[in-house]
Amino acid sequence: MNASPTTTGSTTSTSTTTSTSTATSTATSIGSAPRDYALTGAASRRAVQDGLADAQWYRPAVSPERMQVLMARSNGRAAFHTVLWLALLAGSGALAFQSRGHWWAIPAFAAYGALYGGAADPRWHECGHGTAFKSRWANDVVYTVASFMLLREPTMWRWSHVRHHSDTIIVGRDPEISFPRPFKVRVVLANYLHLLNGPAMLRRMVRHAFGSIDDDARDFVPEDELPRVVWEARIFVAVLACVIAWSVLIGSIVPLLFIGLPSFYGVWLLWFFAVTQHGGLREDVLDHRLNTRTVYINPVFRFLYLNMNYHLEHHLFPSVPYHHLPQLHAEIKHHLPPPKTSMFTAYREIVFALRRQHKDPTWELPLPVLPADAPTAVLSSKVTRDVEDPEADAVDIGAADMIETGRIVRLDLNGRTYALCRPTADLYALTDGLCTHGQTHLAEGFLDGCTIECPKHNGRFDVRTGEPLRKPVRIPLATYEIERVGGRLVARLDGRRVPPPPALRTTPSR
Ligand code: FES
Repeated sequence: MNASPTTTGSTTSTSTTTSTSTATSTATSIGSAPRDYALTGAASRRAVQDGLADAQWYRPAVSPERMQVLMARSNGRAAFHTVLWLALLAGSGALAFQSRGHWWAIPAFAAYGALYGGAADPRWHECGHGTAFKSRWANDVVYTVASFMLLREPTMWRWSHVRHHSDTIIVGRDPEISFPRPFKVRVVLANYLHLLNGPAMLRRMVRHAFGSIDDDARDFVPEDELPRVVWEARIFVAVLACVIAWSVLIGSIVPLLFIGLPSFYGVWLLWFFAVTQHGGLREDVLDHRLNTRTVYINPVFRFLYLNMNYHLEHHLFPSVPYHHLPQLHAEIKHHLPPPKTSMFTAYREIVFALRRQHKDPTWELPLPVLPADAPTAVLSSKVTRDVEDPEADAVDIGAADMIETGRIVRLDLNGRTYALCRPTADLYALTDGLCTHGQTHLAEGFLDGCTIECPKHNGRFDVRTGEPLRKPVRIPLATYEIERVGGRLVARLDGRRVPPPPALRTTPSR
């Protein structure tokens, strides 16, 4: 996740991320090597050349059975937490309205702002991944509303966050790096009130509303999504303009205090949590254990932050919904560095690292102690075999009971990989094994009815037709005819392939 886009006049990130980079980036110097956080500069080209873009990352092994349980979604849990958040928002808003003219307006508005401009961030994040609710529409509604509350353009940020997960804290690739080195104290402090990021995000939104898309956004948003970026920016700008006009008409700042300005004066809570995600940790490493942090926090904070304190676990397995992250943590913590035991210890480490990196941008925290026996992968049941003639009309691919109902099995036949799915007892589906977005093994993903979700960026396909159901996947998945004959599964491996429409782009990093 990320924090909110940080815009240091240069780069933004969020998650909880930090923010998506603003239009410009600051070139800094790391040791003798120039460092440029722009997504279109020398560091970007170097990251690609060095194999740091769209690379394979470490993931600890978890049994496929356990992963299917951990990846299960729940409308009930998310609805309860969302209603509770909205009720607190409404209650604090009513209190703030009543407090006008009194001294206690300050704490009342601070609480309202924190719930608006701070607690909206993890809701935005989880719904952006499509993991908070089971229902897609509920995720989309909350994501869009929270995007407005955070001044984030929904489509642009969705693609920004995809890149953040592909290339976490890779300089020149990740648009959501919160602490470009060497960091500046005044910049970090200003971020707690959105004094730099907020105006930069507003200016960017206005430019987008006029159809002027910056190069960084063009780097991670597919071209055919840009008109959507423009229209979303226009709608958000129009709503904000209406609130400003309302305030002017009645000669009172009150409407803006409730809509618009809380994105600024409430962002402190977002930053309070979000800086712990990656602050002070390593750049340009392909191991989330070295650039992402998990922190133990109290239950109130965990509600406000929707368990995103388990941030390392989230980056390792973005398909696991927030309410299962504590269980995931318990499952894999013996493969991970020790978590920080409180916000205090996390901040102590961050401040220590940032102070050292302020003087010497090449300075790094000591490497954490990692278990020597940590296995480096893999998470799907796998069947490997050769068949006599893969081009034959009917190929026996194995026993029908090699897969249980509701499961996915990776099937490698003659060196080619497939995903064999069994959504119901009587229904089998066979698809290509690699996601059309980023070549990730789909068998390590989540099967929900007839929908398979990619474990890397939460893209989804219908396993019966290969139809893309959720971005970032946009290219259909090849599917193959399969039927059960007695106790065997028979498929046509050269059969009903679904060719990708030529009009769609095939950029793997997106
Ligand atoms: Fe990105 Fe599959 S690799 S959605």
